[in-house]
Amino acid sequence: MSSQHQIPSYLVPHDIGPWGVYLEQIDRVTPYLGGLARWVETLKRPKRILIVDVPIERDDGTIAHFEGYRVQHNTSRGPGKGGVRFHQDVTLSEVMALSAWMTVKNAAVNVPYGGAKGGIRVDPKLLSQGELQRITRRYTSEINIIIGPNKDIPAPDVNTNEKVMAWMMDTYSMNQGSTATGVVTGKPISLGGSLGRQEATGRGVFVVGCEAAAKRGLDIAGAKVAVQGFGNVGGVAARLFTEAGAKVVAVQDHAATVIHEGGLDITALQEHVARHGSVAGFPGGEFLKERDDFWGIDCDILVPAALEQQITTENASRIRASIILEGANGPTTPAADDILKEKNVLVVPDVIANAGGVTVSYFEWVQDFSSFFWTEDEINLRLTRIMREAFAAVWQIASDKRVSLRTAAFIVGCTRVLQAREMRGLYP
Ligand SMILES: NC(=O)c1ccc[n+]([C@@H]2O[C@H](COP(=O)([O-])OP(=O)(O)OC[C@H]3O[C@@H](n4cnc5c(N)ncnc54)[C@H](O)[C@@H]3O)[C@@H](O)[C@H]2O)c1
Repeated sequence: MSSQHQIPSYLVPHDIGPWGVYLEQIDRVTPYLGGLARWVETLKRPKRILIVDVPIERDDGTIAHFEGYRVQHNTSRGPGKGGVRFHQDVTLSEVMALSAWMTVKNAAVNVPYGGAKGGIRVDPKLLSQGELQRITRRYTSEINIIIGPNKDIPAPDVNTNEKVMAWMMDTYSMNQGSTATGVVTGKPISLGGSLGRQEATGRGVFVVGCEAAAKRGLDIAGAKVAVQGFGNVGGVAARLFTEAGAKVVAVQDHAATVIHEGGLDITALQEHVARHGSVAGFPGGEFLKERDDFWGIDCDILVPAALEQQITTENASRIRASIILEGANGPTTPAADDILKEKNVLVVPDVIANAGGVTVSYFEWVQDFSSFFWTEDEINLRLTRIMREAFAAVWQIASDKRVSLRTAAFIVGCTRVLQAREMRGLYP
C-alpha cells in the first residue's frame, strides 16, 4: 500500500541516527536471507513501544519529569531481553535501535530471547541516591505492565548497575505481591544474581579478541590496546587484556583521554575512577588535549566500549588498529564500516563481541528459575565456549559468502529470527 504522508513516521530515520544505522545494516543483510527476505519488514518495525512519564519529587521539594522508554523489538524466539540505560541523550530512536540489536544478538549467539531495551532520558550524575532510587522505582512501576520473567527481562546498561537492578526487582515484586528474582538480570549475587555476570560482557570482548587476534596472527602478549569507555565493559576488557600480557596504551572516557606508551596500570586506573568518577587527573599517564586524537593512537586492537556512532567517516581513516572489538552497541556507522574494510581492518561486530553479557544473563535467568546456582568456573567455561563457537560460526559464513563479520553475524541472527517468525505463522 502506498500513501502520501506530510509528516514522517517514527520508523523513518530523520538523519542517520542509531535507528538509521540499524536499518542500513538490515538492508545490507537482506540479499543473503533467501526466501526469508519476504519477512524482513518484521525486523524494521519494533513489535511494541511504551513511552512513559517518570515524575519524581526532588530532594529540594520540586517535581521533575523525565522521559522513559521500553521497546520490545521482537519476541519471535522468546521473551524480550535487553538493558536499561540512564543517560541525558536517550531518545526513542536510540532505544529502538538498541532493542533491535538485542534481537539480532540474542539470535546470533542462540539464547532463547527476543530483543528489548529501555531507558530514561536523565543524567544520573545529577541525582542524589534517593532521587536515583525514586526514578528507578517509578520507571519500573510504569513499565510493569509489559515486563516479567516470561515477558521481558531488563538488565544493566550505561549508568545502571546491580543496585539499580535490585530496586527494579523489588519494585516489580512489590507490585506482584511475591518475590520474582527472574524479572531482571545483573542483580547482586545475594538476590539471585549470577557469579561472573558483572564481568561477562568485558570477558566476552576479551575472548573474541583472542580469537580475532589468532586469525590475524597477532600475539596478545605485547599487543597495544586502546579502549574508549572505561565502565563495566571497557574496564573489564582492559583488565583482562592486561592480565594476558597486552599493553593498554590509551583509555578515553566521558571526561578525558589518558595515554601511556608503556601501558597503563589498569588496577590503579580503576581505583582512580572509583574515587574521582573519571580517568581525568590520573597520575600514571599523560593526557590528550584533543579528544579526537584518540582515534589516531598507535595500537593493534581498538575497543570502542562507550556509546553509538563513535567511529564515523570523520575518524575511520585515521584508525591504525588492525582489529576493532565492538564492546559498545552500534559504535560504527555503515559508511565507516566501508572505510575500515578498504583499510583491511577486522571489525568484530557488537552483536557478537559484546554478547557475553546477555549470555551470562541467560545463565542467571535459568539459575533463578531452578533456584540452583553454578560456580564461577562453570559460568566462565560455558561463556567462553559459547563466545568461541559463535565467533567460529560467523567467521565461517563471512569466509564462505565473502562478507564482513557484521553481515555474517546478521545473516545468522536474522535467519534464526525470521525462521521462527515463519514457523509460528502470522497471527491471526
Ligand atoms: N553492561 C553490559 O553488560 C553491556 C552489554 C552489552 C553491551 N553494552 C554496551 O557497552 C557500552 C558501555 O556500557 P557499560 O555497561 O560499560 O556502561 P558504563 O556506564 O559502565 O560505562 C560507560 C563508559 O563510557 C564512558 N563514556 C560515556 N560517554 C562517553 C563519551 N562521549 N566518550 C567517551 N567515553 C564515554 C563513561 O565515562 C564510562 O566510562 C554501551 O554501548 C552498552 O550498550 C553493555
